Amino acid sequence: MDVKLQEAKNSIRDIVDFPKEGIVFKDITTMLKDQKHLNTLVESLYEQYKNRGITKVVGLESRGFILGTVLAYKLGAGFVPVRKPGKLPAPTYSEKYSLEYGEDEMFIHQDALNSEDVILVHDDLLATGGTAKASINLISKFNVKDVYINFLVELDFLNGREKLDTHYQVDSLFHF
Ligand code: PRP
Ligand code: ADE
Repeated sequence: MDVKLQEAKNSIRDIVDFPKEGIVFKDITTMLKDQKHLNTLVESLYEQYKNRGITKVVGLESRGFILGTVLAYKLGAGFVPVRKPGKLPAPTYSEKYSLEYGEDEMFIHQDALNSEDVILVHDDLLATGGTAKASINLISKFNVKDVYINFLVELDFLNGREKLDTHYQVDSLFHF
């Protein structure tokens, strides 16, 4: 791995027993607060997706919003939030899901995407895959042209990638 990316990866902090006992939480705030790491992440993701014809970045609440909007701006694409209950004001589609430490439901506005769109789904982290799978299910309601899926961090030992069970391209910058 590139030295700058390795340094960024090394700056991710482990918090034991957060938010529940038995969970080792990957805290990316220690990486994001450093200007050089933030720059490395954004430039690396931009290089990876700049020639894919992405028209919209779909960011997953809430940590997927952080770099999702930056990426959308860099790629010349729009940004669409997938949100938790009670947040989106207009008619929505929804999907329930379970994640590493609980259960939740995700929503997307019914007019958020169209059949001309090429989507980049972005979230900070893939754990069990529940959140991302629910989001793929939401996007499947729109008959879009193509979908790419990106995470900053993938926890390989939780096998979330298998749960995604998708033919779309899935890429993670860092693996643990
Ligand atoms: C975290 C993370 C991913 C999800 C991954 O979000 O940002 O969205 O968990 O877990 P999974 O692969 O097991 O579904 P969380 O629900 O904690 O919300 P937050 O981004 O608002 O902190
Ligand atoms: N989301 C789900 N599992 C997580 C973990 N272990 N660290 C950070 N975010 C998470």
